[in-house]
Amino acid sequence: MKRIWAVPTNTDLESLIKMKTRILISRQVFREVIDFLSPDFEIDYNEGDDILSPDQLRDRAQACAGVMCTIADKIDAAFFDVCTHLKVVSNIAVGYNNIDAAEAKRRGIKITNTPGVLDNATADLTFALLMAAARRVTESEAWLRRGDWKKGFALQQMLGADIHRATLGIIGMGRIGQTIAKRALGFDMTVRYYNRTRLDAATEAALNASYATQEAVLRESDFVVVMVPYSPATHHLIGTQEIALMKPTAILINTARGGVVDDAALIDALRTNKIAGAGLDVFENEPQLNREFLTLNNVALTPHIGSATRSTRMAMAMLAATNLQAALTGKEPPNWVNR
Ligand code: NAP
Ligand code: GLV
Repeated sequence: MKRIWAVPTNTDLESLIKMKTRILISRQVFREVIDFLSPDFEIDYNEGDDILSPDQLRDRAQACAGVMCTIADKIDAAFFDVCTHLKVVSNIAVGYNNIDAAEAKRRGIKITNTPGVLDNATADLTFALLMAAARRVTESEAWLRRGDWKKGFALQQMLGADIHRATLGIIGMGRIGQTIAKRALGFDMTVRYYNRTRLDAATEAALNASYATQEAVLRESDFVVVMVPYSPATHHLIGTQEIALMKPTAILINTARGGVVDDAALIDALRTNKIAGAGLDVFENEPQLNREFLTLNNVALTPHIGSATRSTRMAMAMLAATNLQAALTGKEPPNWVNR
């Protein structure tokens, strides 16, 4: 008699029962995250931390039900076409503009992010850049390191802008925007903000912040912070025309996303002193930022480290792991963004 299927042995059945759902972790995380996920999942872990090319990412995710990734990973329709077992993509970030979440929804794939746990660290770094740009911290350090400090204390050396009692404009007054506003209270700053939706009166009062149009925020502020998510609607939200509204003494801070500010327009404004300075943590086309930034003294630069404290990055990675685990074990992931 011809056998068309083999009767599974006890050993086959045991290994089938033990077979774990396969997931990909696309970048280096923390040992604690691997320990948390290991009991439930077979993990393909890119511990070496090199950015995977789109082909490598697709190849490694092909047999996976879940992917934990970062904003350096582009997750789009071409990726979903190949990764047909996929049930969830868990971004280790609050912003998820690297993922086509609408396309994922059409295919029944859950997308999750990590809101809240990074508000304080990102607000701190935003203030660090604001203060660095205002008080010329990075510029004067480079000058000192070059050996240019010859005259000792000099009254007009490296004069900067006052932060205390200045006007801070926040465009994008969400979780992080509001956390930045809290810090401004300690500097006796006046806070003006623009969102498409106005905050309730109690929140405005607690933050001592007043609502204004985007144009008024740009015109009136000594410091303008942009803190909006990136989307087609916020692409080049701040460009030549918006910068032209700012005071010549004003400083622009972008800790939101590359592409929210038109980098070429900003470089032109900084070069021609249309505004006094800028503080930037994010850039168009990271990490290949426009090299002209490197030639300018009046900009403080950091390499997308807004949330980069150990405890915050740990909290983000653990939240991403929790989201992924929930989605693959029949529970509702806490931070499901494309439901
Ligand atoms: P959030 O709570 O959703 O806040 C975003 C705010 O932007 C909302 O208040 C929203 O209000 C406003 N907004 C959206 N579109 C706008 C527009 N066209 N004009 C004006 N306001 C607009 O998000 P979050 O948690 O604060 O994070 C914001 C972004 O920060 C993330 O998406 C991410 O890209 C970035 N981020 C960067 C770092 C870093 O490392 N540098 C770290 C964390 C986050 P309305 O909808 O009412 O307009
Ligand atoms: C970082 O940029 C994030 O969106 O969390």
